[in-house]
Amino acid sequence: MLIAVDGPLASGKGTIARALAARFALPHLDTGTLYRAVAVAVLEAGSDPSDASAAEAAARSLDPSQIDEAKIRTAGAGAAASIVSAHPQVRAALKHVQQAFARQPGGAVLDGRDIGTVIAPDADVKLFVTASAEVRASRRWNELVGRGETVALEQVMSQLLERDGRDAARPDAPLLKADDAIELDTTDMDEGEAIRAAIDIVAGRMKP
Ligand code: DC
Repeated sequence: MLIAVDGPLASGKGTIARALAARFALPHLDTGTLYRAVAVAVLEAGSDPSDASAAEAAARSLDPSQIDEAKIRTAGAGAAASIVSAHPQVRAALKHVQQAFARQPGGAVLDGRDIGTVIAPDADVKLFVTASAEVRASRRWNELVGRGETVALEQVMSQLLERDGRDAARPDAPLLKADDAIELDTTDMDEGEAIRAAIDIVAGRMKP
């Protein structure tokens, strides 16, 4: 079974995707890690994330098995990832690795922004996870502070709105709900409720 989970920053899509993978014993790929790793490589090379050729070169030489989780999880890496991900050359370079993961026998869970629309339009179940901007900013702030970053909630909110705008406005594979995706609004749900709701949706789709 192939499950696509898309949604904006801090909507809960990553937590939901991980839980679905555990519940249905499927391999999971958080596709945002690929864009974040490309962004970190560009920054470490001293290049500008808006430089399409530098970003493409980083995407082409990316080794997904060598991604440094600590480096890619910072707010700076996320902001730069949103910029490099707008280059069509970067998206093209990362498409193959995502589709190869999606096509493995037995299925998989992938989460990102364009899984249901571009990477796996034939997925068996597509979830589009949303939540209000206020709730997402507060979740993200808690996550960053929990990792020791010093950042104001207002700053997180303005960065989130900026990234939402960029991810949704880019011409190539923008953040978009697939026509056949089921929307799951997690604004008023805690983590456990969101996970249960997602499992119910997938289990419902598995019934003959
Ligand atoms: O989900 P995330 O915050 O780790 O993603 C970081 C950035 O990567 C996000 O701003 C947009 C980009 N991204 C994308 O364009 N397509 C994906 N499938 C996943 C992430």
